[in-house]
Amino acid sequence: PFVVTENCIKCKYTDCVEVCPVDCFHEGPNFLVIDPDECIDCTLCEPECPINAIYPEDDVPAGQETYVALNAELSQVWPVITTRKDPLPDAKDWEGKPNKLPLLER
Ligand code: SF4
Ligand code: F3S
Repeated sequence: PFVVTENCIKCKYTDCVEVCPVDCFHEGPNFLVIDPDECIDCTLCEPECPINAIYPEDDVPAGQETYVALNAELSQVWPVITTRKDPLPDAKDWEGKPNKLPLLER
């Protein structure tokens, strides 16, 4: 499956959600995740993210392996999102910032 990684935190552009044919994106307060049990590896979402936050499970950026388990865990508790919405207000300021994991809201 594909995995949403750190760069999404505090940005949440949501361009990714509308292309998913199986509605496997789930939304938290400042991050999205993919349900690994629903993802069919169609690859459509990966190029939609303007800040390259989506990767195949076996190709996540070095040091971000923890996001594989996080997507699996949080997709079980957060609701499905299928419609694009505005990014978070200061998304631009948070693009590409390192070490955003402590800022993840559940
Ligand atoms: Fe959905 Fe396809 Fe992305 Fe998986 S790879 S999350 S099925 S759009
Ligand atoms: Fe996040 Fe990128 Fe989707 S910022 S909400 S993974 S378009």
